[in-house]
Amino acid sequence: MVIPGLSTRGETGVSRRTFAGLIGGGAASVGLGLAAPSAQAATPTAAGSAALPPASSPGYWDAVRRLFALDKDVLFMNVGTVGSPPLEVLDTVDRVHREVAAGAISAYSNFADVRAVAARGYGCDPDELVISHNTSDGMSKILAGLALREGDEILTTNHEHSGGNVPMALARDRHGVVVRRVALPVGNDQRAEDYVELFRRAITSRTKVLLFSAPTYKTGTMLPIRMLARLAQQHGLTTVVDGAHIPGMMAYDFHELGVDFLAGSAAKWQCGPGGTGILYVRNKVISRFNPNPLPVFWPVVSSGYPAEGGRPSRSDGPTESYDIAADLQSVGNGSLAVMAGVRNVCEVWDRIGRERIQSHVLGLSGYLKELIAERWGVNSLYSPKDDPRLVCALTSFAPFRDPGDVYDAAKTTAFVARLKDEYGIVIRTSDFPVIGSSRNHQTVRVSTHLFHQKEDVERVADAMWQLSGEMS
Ligand SMILES: Cc1ncc(COP(=O)(O)O)c(C=O)c1O
Repeated sequence: MVIPGLSTRGETGVSRRTFAGLIGGGAASVGLGLAAPSAQAATPTAAGSAALPPASSPGYWDAVRRLFALDKDVLFMNVGTVGSPPLEVLDTVDRVHREVAAGAISAYSNFADVRAVAARGYGCDPDELVISHNTSDGMSKILAGLALREGDEILTTNHEHSGGNVPMALARDRHGVVVRRVALPVGNDQRAEDYVELFRRAITSRTKVLLFSAPTYKTGTMLPIRMLARLAQQHGLTTVVDGAHIPGMMAYDFHELGVDFLAGSAAKWQCGPGGTGILYVRNKVISRFNPNPLPVFWPVVSSGYPAEGGRPSRSDGPTESYDIAADLQSVGNGSLAVMAGVRNVCEVWDRIGRERIQSHVLGLSGYLKELIAERWGVNSLYSPKDDPRLVCALTSFAPFRDPGDVYDAAKTTAFVARLKDEYGIVIRTSDFPVIGSSRNHQTVRVSTHLFHQKEDVERVADAMWQLSGEMS
C-alpha cells in the first residue's frame, strides 16, 4: 500500500518531512490522510503544564513542580535511579505513538532533528550526540568500539557502576585488557586536585583509557571532569566518563569538558521517556578543549556504517568529516514516539534554562548537606560539601547515630523502607568500600531535583532525623 507523503515507508525510511512533522520538528504536516498532528511538540498540551511565570516570581518553582505527573502524596527523592517525565512529554509520546499506530509508520532514521535539539542543550554538535537506550548502553558501545588490545590498561575507580564495570569486564575477558582501579577517598575533606593526583600517580606506560564516573553514584562525588580530561590529554589517554547523572542535572558544555566519550541517562535527571540515554562521542579536534587526535573508535552497533568503502576518515580539525553519531543512531527501526519525547523534554529543560536548573538542584543539595552536617555531624557525609568542583545533587550519608551501624546493611535497608512507609519519602541505600575499612559502608542517598523546594529538603531532613532517633 502506498501512503501519500511516505515514499520510502517501511524499507529505507520515513521521509524526513513526515518524520519532522510527527515529532514537532517543523511546520510540515503529515500526508497520511490523518488529521495533521501538532507540529509543536514543545507547546504544553497537558493540564497543569501551562506557561511558566517569570523566573523571579515567588511561585516559579511551584509552577515547575506542576509540570510533572509525580504522585503528590509521595516525596520522591530518588531521581538518581529514575526520573519522571513532565506531563507534556507524556502527552507527546502518547500522541505520536497513536499517530504512528494509526499510520503504521516506520522510522528507519538517524533522528537528526532530535539530535540537533538535544546537542544544543549539551554544548556539542549533532554529529557527536546519540540518543542511546540508557547509560549502560552508551558505556557498552564506547568500550566495545574502542580499539583495545591485550595488555592495554583501563585506569578506573573502585566506585564504578555495573554499567561501566560490565563492559570493562568484557574487554578484559575478550581482549585481555587490564582493568586497574584507584581507591577513591570519600567525604568532605577532599579537594579536586587530590583526585587528579591520585589518577596521575596510577598512570603507567600501558594505560590507554581513563574511565571514571562523574558523579560517582555511591557518594555523589563529582570527580573533576575537566581536570581529569586534561590529565588524560597530557598522557595521550582516551577519557571515558560514566556521566549517568549529568544530563538534566548539570549544565555542562560537553566540548568544554574535553573528554572523548560521555555516556549518560536521559531518563534520570533529564526526565525523558524510559529507556533513553545521552551518548557523547567527540568527533572533532577543538584545540582549546582537546588538541589530541580522535581515538580509533568503531560504531559496532550500527546499521548506518557504510557497507562498502571502508572506515570513513575522522576529522583532525574543528569540522567533522564523518557523522559518527548518525551511524551510531541508525540501528534498524526506531521509535518516533520515544524520540519525540526526548526532543520535547530537552526543549522543556532549555525553556526553563539548564543553568537555572543546575543552580536550583545544587542549592537544594547544599542546603541538605548543611542540615545533615548540623544534626549528624559533617563526618556522617560521604558526599563532598565544601569544594564546589566536587558537588552534585546527590547526597549520601550515614543516618544512624551509632558509628557501628554504618556496616549494618539490613538496618539501612529498613531505614529506607520505613521512610517510605511511615513518612511517604522515597530515597535509596548505597553501599561501597571505604579506604581503611575492611567492610563496605552502608549509607542512604537523597536526590534533590527541580521539582523539589526548600520545604522538601527540610521535610526529608526532619523525617530522617526523627527516624534515625527511633531506630538508634
Ligand atoms: C554511575 C551510574 N552508571 C550507570 C548507571 C546505569 O544507568 P542506566 O540505567 O541509565 O543504564 C547508573 C544507574 O544508576 C549509575 O548511577
